[in-house]
Amino acid sequence: MSNFKPAHLERVVAATGVTPDVNQINLNPYALRTASVAANAAHGAVTESWSPIKPAAMLAEPAVVTAAREHGVTPAQVVLRWHTQHGYVPIPKSADPRRQAENLAIFDFTLSAAQVAAIDALDRGEAHVTDSDSFGH
Ligand SMILES: NC(=O)c1ccc[n+]([C@@H]2O[C@H](COP(=O)([O-])OP(=O)(O)OC[C@H]3O[C@@H](n4cnc5c(N)ncnc54)[C@H](OP(=O)(O)O)[C@@H]3O)[C@@H](O)[C@H]2O)c1
Repeated sequence: MSNFKPAHLERVVAATGVTPDVNQINLNPYALRTASVAANAAHGAVTESWSPIKPAAMLAEPAVVTAAREHGVTPAQVVLRWHTQHGYVPIPKSADPRRQAENLAIFDFTLSAAQVAAIDALDRGEAHVTDSDSFGH
């Protein structure tokens, strides 16, 4: 599934009796999508994050830059690691082979609880998230 809000998820499960395996939603530190994440988890659906490191301004946030410096990694790696530590599957896109490799190299460091909390605090709510009820998919 893609862009299923909690109500959509309830509907598809009620109508088919089938629990989808994955729900791909717009999720990043600026948009924590708490209700959608909880609904996915309640149904056992994996949360997949699209635009996981976009907009780029996120990569300049002090909470991200500080963690990157402390771990000797890039800001993109910090944000991608943040996703995985929350149990999400981020799907970053890059046309640059070096960045593609960089985006995969996030499993040899661990953000502290304080670093994760500082990044969580970047949340701006749902207002800037594409609403699939009006966007059409
Ligand atoms: N289901 C949906 O409705 C939906 C909607 C939108 C997107 N998606 C999916 O989500 C995937 C990713 O979304 P997205 O492309 O919007 O967002 P994204 O992957 O978060 O961001 C892509 C941007 O980040 C840059 N970037 C990648 N790696 C980087 C790094 N290590 N450091 C700095 N910049 C980096 C890329 O530039 P370079 O290419 O120059 O590296 C590109 O400008 C897409 O492939 C698409 O399949 C799904």
